[in-house]
Amino acid sequence: EMLEKGGYEHFMLKEIYEQPRSIKDCMRGRIYPQEGKVQLGGIKEFADKLKNIDRIIIVACGTSWHAGLVGEYLIEEYARIPVEVEYASEFRYRNPIITEKDVVIAISQSGETADTMAAIEMAKEKGATIFGICNVAGASIPRLTHAGVYTHAGPEIGVASTKAFTAQVTVLTLMAFYMAQQRGTLTTSKLIELLTELDHIPEKIQIALESDDIIKKVAEKIKDSKNCLFLGRGSGFPVALEGALKLKEISYIHAEGYPAAEMKHGPIALIDEEMPVVFIATQNSSYEKVISNIQEVKARKGIVIAIVTQGDIEVKKMADYCIEIPDADEAFLPLLATIPLQLLSYHIAVMRGCNVDQPRNLAKSVTVE
Ligand code: G6P
Repeated sequence: EMLEKGGYEHFMLKEIYEQPRSIKDCMRGRIYPQEGKVQLGGIKEFADKLKNIDRIIIVACGTSWHAGLVGEYLIEEYARIPVEVEYASEFRYRNPIITEKDVVIAISQSGETADTMAAIEMAKEKGATIFGICNVAGASIPRLTHAGVYTHAGPEIGVASTKAFTAQVTVLTLMAFYMAQQRGTLTTSKLIELLTELDHIPEKIQIALESDDIIKKVAEKIKDSKNCLFLGRGSGFPVALEGALKLKEISYIHAEGYPAAEMKHGPIALIDEEMPVVFIATQNSSYEKVISNIQEVKARKGIVIAIVTQGDIEVKKMADYCIEIPDADEAFLPLLATIPLQLLSYHIAVMRGCNVDQPRNLAKSVTVE
């Protein structure tokens, strides 16, 4: 088994460290930065259809649903198509309005999640075109969909999803750019710029992985907490949700992800000197606003842990701990900011003596309702 873990203590850690490679694999043969082109063979036959669809509905569960929220942000921003993100388990039992001009994107690592399959079947009956984003080739979901794009992250053994999540986000980024290319919502020069940067994201992830020492220090400090809050804005919000989910899944600490601005409508009541608050505080369009949320937490003596852009000065003055990630266009922030949060929950779970790869009560894939 040690051999399978490639010298790492747990599959989860191995899978976290595989991400520079898995993301590269996911992009291979799909991006052409010099020409500003994206090719997605799996959905090619629908390239024309993408020019006049009304709406995209993303359905998924768990971590895959968080990837969907990042996808909503990217597709709306770059391809200018309205997107709704639905929990498959809720969607399937409503009587949603679906037309032939809708594209449903089902996201699933395993390709076997029962609720996601049922949501696909319902949308298909109502005439929608269904795309899949799956990791396991030949699984049930890829067989149910009209077309799809595999994530190619390789087998994920740890129950808590890590590399599959970043690969899903990568595919959604590619899809957003592909749709933008079909619909003419991005110029070729902008696509060249974005794809050139995307091409270098694996190296930046490698750099983000090197903050392990400071992350261990933070883990040591907050490992005995009963609760933990994760806050972010824009595409940092789904990152906060995913950070909270990772922590609760493997360390059993109660954690919640919230949009930073919503803090004042509830979570702020929980803040005292024992409450760690993890902020996604990178330099992007919501930076200043997040800083004022950090001040609000510090005024109530909360413990602030901030994910910041390399070289940040402002947040460092206020936060108890800063974890740096390389600078990048806002489009790629989720791919980078997720990395330290994965490592943080991993170390906390190890320090608490938890079964990291097989947390209690959880299954890798939920094939029953
Ligand atoms: C389970 C797993 C999660 C996963 C979710 C959806 O809860 O423990 O890691 O995100 O199912 O699974 P899927 O295979 O559809 O992505």
